[in-house]
Amino acid sequence: MGKYIINGGNRLEGEISLQGSKNAALPIMAACVLCEGTVVLNNVPDIADVSIMKQILSSIGCMITTDGNSLYIDASELSGSTVSECLVNKMRSSIILMGALIARNRQTKFSYPGGCDIGLRPIDMHLKGLRDLGAKITEDHGYILVDAKDLHSGNIHLNYPSVGATENIMLASIFTKGVTSISNAAKEPEIVDLQYFLNAMGARVYGAGTNTVYIEGVDRLNGCSYDIMSDRIVSATYMCAVNMCGGDVLIKNASLEHIKSPYYKLIESGLTVQNYSDGIRVSSDGKVNCIDSIISMPYPGFPTDLQPVFTSMLTVSNSTAIINETVFENRYRFTSQLVRMGANIKIEGRIAVVTGVQSLSATRVYAEDLRGGAALVLAGLRANGNTIVEDVGHIFRGYENFHQNLADLGADIRYVPD
Ligand code: UD1
Repeated sequence: MGKYIINGGNRLEGEISLQGSKNAALPIMAACVLCEGTVVLNNVPDIADVSIMKQILSSIGCMITTDGNSLYIDASELSGSTVSECLVNKMRSSIILMGALIARNRQTKFSYPGGCDIGLRPIDMHLKGLRDLGAKITEDHGYILVDAKDLHSGNIHLNYPSVGATENIMLASIFTKGVTSISNAAKEPEIVDLQYFLNAMGARVYGAGTNTVYIEGVDRLNGCSYDIMSDRIVSATYMCAVNMCGGDVLIKNASLEHIKSPYYKLIESGLTVQNYSDGIRVSSDGKVNCIDSIISMPYPGFPTDLQPVFTSMLTVSNSTAIINETVFENRYRFTSQLVRMGANIKIEGRIAVVTGVQSLSATRVYAEDLRGGAALVLAGLRANGNTIVEDVGHIFRGYENFHQNLADLGADIRYVPD
């Protein structure tokens, strides 16, 4: 896992290039299984979750070559449709492969997925959607066995706009005759990126980004070259860091288009934001104005993935903020670590009351999940003295070159492997 040692208090100045999106790259990599030719993916982030997805794809027979941030994925000779339990357990997003393998092989065997410990994260909506398309699914000793010989198109309604369930059903129905619709679908920009990618391979998918996604079955898909979208969660993380530390940073390749809700909150909290054709420039004097409230919601609402870094930012605001985490029931674990640093945070169920303090004090803290880990790093950048953030492997799951980028901007941060 390793640790970061951060000597807080430095302003952040300079420019960084924003990485490709984790949440777009993972389902798009899974979708490569649908194609019997070679797919070239560009702007793929060099992060641990992408490495796990590469291992999973290789384990079922995909040939993968890596060239910088480009991947060449050839799934023409798939050797299996059983995904090893230890790989599935490393990452929840591996469940997206279920839809792709069902479409390609009409059968698969999976164990229940792992991932960040931020809530129950059941997969009931994925399974119901696949059953409604005719898949016969049995659950046996922790395994999910899928027989999809009779897969057909259908009208699926999701009780909640689950990102993963929307993606899984999109992939499963790519080759079924007729049109499948998914109503109350997730509208996240990464779903739109998945649609663009599928259509670049010859699929007929419409409506992503709206309430209903339509998938008209095609016979086969062809190879293509595709550029993954930039990571909106990572760009807003750097924006929060600048607001907490003070500074002036150009985030190249970032766009405000997909972070409207966090953008307005950041303006409210005092960040100056300029939009350029090739990126976003942010500056701050390091004083954080309080934000009334944050309620995490499905897109276009405030993203749950940004709740931890915003909570961290609000620990040094000039008043009291109320945060309501409606998406994941267990996403405040990192706050106990912030409290060790002197933050004033009270949790009551899904509500956090965060009262700003003058300063945070440096101490040893433990990352327990990806975004909670990033929140601790931001607190360390702002705190007086040496903060040690342990178990930063969680952060490597989603942030490419995190400490190098922050160090390039002037932060005093060092990675020490175990
Ligand atoms: C994706 C993102 C994750 C983000 C989340 C919400 C990826 C790889 N991950 O995760 O970063 O935090 O969207 O924006 O894209 N749920 C059920 N049953 C289901 C499926 C989901 O109850 O079958 C619940 C979950 O427990 C959670 C909520 O629905 O409380 C949202 O989950 P979902 O949108 O599916 O998130 P993920 O796809 O896992």
